[in-house]
Amino acid sequence: MKKHKIAIMGFGTVGGGAYDILTGNADHIRSTQGLDIEIAAILDRSVEPLKKRGVSENLFCDSVDALAADPDIELVIETMGGVRPTKDFIVKLLTAGKSVVTANKELLAKHWSELEPIARAHGCGLFFEASCVGGVPIIRALGESFQGDKVKRLYGIINGTTNYILSKMSSAGLSYEQALAQAQEKGFAEADPTSDVEGYDAAYKLSILASLAFHTCIPYTSIFREGITKVTARDIANAHELGYEIKLIAIGARDGDDVEARVHPLFVPKDHPLASVSGAYNAVYLNGDHVGDLMFYGAGAGAHPTGSAIVSDVVRALSAPPTYCDFRNDGKIDGAINAVGDFTSKYYIGMTVEDKAGVLSRVATVFGDNGVSIRSAIQRPCADDAATLVFLTHAAREHAVMRSLDTISKLGSVGSIDAMIRVL
Ligand code: HSE
Repeated sequence: MKKHKIAIMGFGTVGGGAYDILTGNADHIRSTQGLDIEIAAILDRSVEPLKKRGVSENLFCDSVDALAADPDIELVIETMGGVRPTKDFIVKLLTAGKSVVTANKELLAKHWSELEPIARAHGCGLFFEASCVGGVPIIRALGESFQGDKVKRLYGIINGTTNYILSKMSSAGLSYEQALAQAQEKGFAEADPTSDVEGYDAAYKLSILASLAFHTCIPYTSIFREGITKVTARDIANAHELGYEIKLIAIGARDGDDVEARVHPLFVPKDHPLASVSGAYNAVYLNGDHVGDLMFYGAGAGAHPTGSAIVSDVVRALSAPPTYCDFRNDGKIDGAINAVGDFTSKYYIGMTVEDKAGVLSRVATVFGDNGVSIRSAIQRPCADDAATLVFLTHAAREHAVMRSLDTISKLGSVGSIDAMIRVL
């Protein structure tokens, strides 16, 4: 059996996970896939990560040029993350004819259009199953299934950090700050959590998933994005009272040439399958015009789930000549596509007002004047002369709701607009 020599570039959590699987299950992969895979080199900044995992220091390599020049290495797993210098390293490797397997959603969302032509030109593969939703084979499903279907909608919980934080807020009544601190303690959130909590990570992933699902380019820059930092314990309590959980949801929808792509907190009805996806778990719920509703669920991050997705790409890359999917991401929306900014949704809105005659009716009048219909309203006293108002609206246009809130915030008796969260 031919031996396939490969390398790992970046030996952190995910690179280590892929190493564990490739070494621990080497016999299984050999007998079931007919592939004898040897990890011949590990590139990192220092030898420390190898020592920490008890891996032979002989595998240590500190030069991407050495990897690119090694004729025995067929493929490189990229688990360094980030854009620089990772992109330059991948360009070198592809140019040298090495296939690359990557988990790097940011790089793909930003630079796929530069990298893929290099892979094609040099007859090597560029695989990215591990870039979205960890161990869940969603990239392959979108690329190789539903060919007869038009995918109409895709709702995803595709960021484990924010789902962990919101789940803790929901189950333990924690504030956002307390839940974030707990997520950081347990290793579910980075010391700088911006990319996760502000929705960038989810937007990169949605750009990849929606581009594949809708067979068009959805640049991450065109995705409406709002993070979870403004969600409060009070919003969660109100959501529970009204029969909802709050989740950070990535939404893609295509109706003819109209495409919506957005990432924001969403009230999800408690009986919707996505409401029960908790902790660091991920799920993608999609609807095709013939297949109907499907839900993919599993660990969205972590060494071994993501490592498993990487190994599946390694096996695929080493088993057959590279194939190329119709994923495109060149930063531009196709001319025929209409990116819908003024989408329709239902809304949860909270505000604090003076508790005196006529205030509720003035607020309601503004909504009415903008064509926003109120479905339910709750008023609670919060101080001697103040009250909180909580509204759920019927489906309304985003811009109409924003216009209403702008006008309402300027009414003399309105102290603050405390919350505006869209409702599924
Ligand atoms: N920070 C990411 C998450 C890791 O929380 O889902 C996987 O991309």
